[in-house]
Amino acid sequence: MTEMMKAVRLHEFGGPEVLRYEDAPRPAIAAGEVLVRVHAAGINPPDLYLRDGYRALPPEWQPSPAFPLILGTDISGVVASVGTDVSGFGVGDAVYAMVRFPDDLMKGSGAYAQHVRVAASELAPKPAGIDHIRAAGSPMSLLTAWQFLVDLGHDAPNPFQSFSHVPVPLHGKTVLVNGAAGGVGHLAVQIAKWKGARVIAVASGRHEALLRDLGADEVVDYTKVAAETVASDVDLVLDAVGGANMDRFLDVIKPGGALFLVNPLGFSGHDEAAGRKITVSSTQVRSNGAQLRQAGRLLDDGIVRVVIDSTYPLAEASAAHQRASEKSIQGKIVLVAA
Ligand SMILES: NC(=O)c1ccc[n+]([C@@H]2O[C@H](COP(=O)([O-])OP(=O)(O)OC[C@H]3O[C@@H](n4cnc5c(N)ncnc54)[C@H](OP(=O)(O)O)[C@@H]3O)[C@@H](O)[C@H]2O)c1
Repeated sequence: MTEMMKAVRLHEFGGPEVLRYEDAPRPAIAAGEVLVRVHAAGINPPDLYLRDGYRALPPEWQPSPAFPLILGTDISGVVASVGTDVSGFGVGDAVYAMVRFPDDLMKGSGAYAQHVRVAASELAPKPAGIDHIRAAGSPMSLLTAWQFLVDLGHDAPNPFQSFSHVPVPLHGKTVLVNGAAGGVGHLAVQIAKWKGARVIAVASGRHEALLRDLGADEVVDYTKVAAETVASDVDLVLDAVGGANMDRFLDVIKPGGALFLVNPLGFSGHDEAAGRKITVSSTQVRSNGAQLRQAGRLLDDGIVRVVIDSTYPLAEASAAHQRASEKSIQGKIVLVAA
């Protein structure tokens, strides 16, 4: 008999209202995988893009997955069962992961559920010093900041450019983080500080106290002043917002510096950057248990803090997606399954 669980499933693309909390079959695990009892699942922009059918992409790139599907990549929970060929994890271990990203980018990794299957290679012990909510809020944002700023950690082809992304040394450097209060941004601010950089955080003014508390040396309120008119001689800009006008940041970067684009679609300043000897680079975040283990030590020690914008019961995923589509997110939105 198929064992069942509660999950938030999608039977069609659309707005937050298409998320349905209902019974679903519990996933079966293969060799090399573990089944995790999910305590909390973090929300990320790709969850909203897939819910919407990636409407912003040209039609030929849009997904046509088999419905129903279960969104979500980021989980924290407890190992419920272990497949063959898995070592290092046992039933009852508290773990966290970013599940099958980008492998299941277009079909959903299954995190918005009471159980999810996870490759052991994507799993890491949950940092003991933080709860499941903060642990579930971290994987995609933390791995993105880590892979951009510390260590790429893989040699898979880069969908955004012909060359591999290479992080740059940060010690003693000035780093500007745009979108500093969002999921990626608030962790990038702290990782850059941990690496010994001076950090300029760009965010709306309501986040200033938080960003200073997280270590930002300067905070620029982009709703009052354009960052490129007040910052200069920056070694690295990490743009965690994207959209139009990313090339304006070229004006604040020193020759020999770098512009890292977390959301690079639409950037048009490559020729200008080359003329100014500025490296422009991007990458797509990839699941990586070893990096979550490494970066998890910073969460455990309190060197990096995961800020929680809000939590919702799993059954209220629609309301959580509504919140996620608003501006002014401060940190992470997390679904609580337990
Ligand atoms: N390359 C990859 O693999 C990868 C991985 C993860 C995320 N991403 C992309 O990176 C982006 C950020 O992701 P996220 O998870 O950090 O999103 P998020 O948590 O929703 O954060 C976005 C932040 O941007 C700020 N913001 C919005 N408009 C802004 C503007 N004009 N100037 C400065 N800040 C602005 C918002 O706060 P305030 O406006 O209140 O300051 C918000 O805090 C998304 O586009 C996502 O798709 C890419």
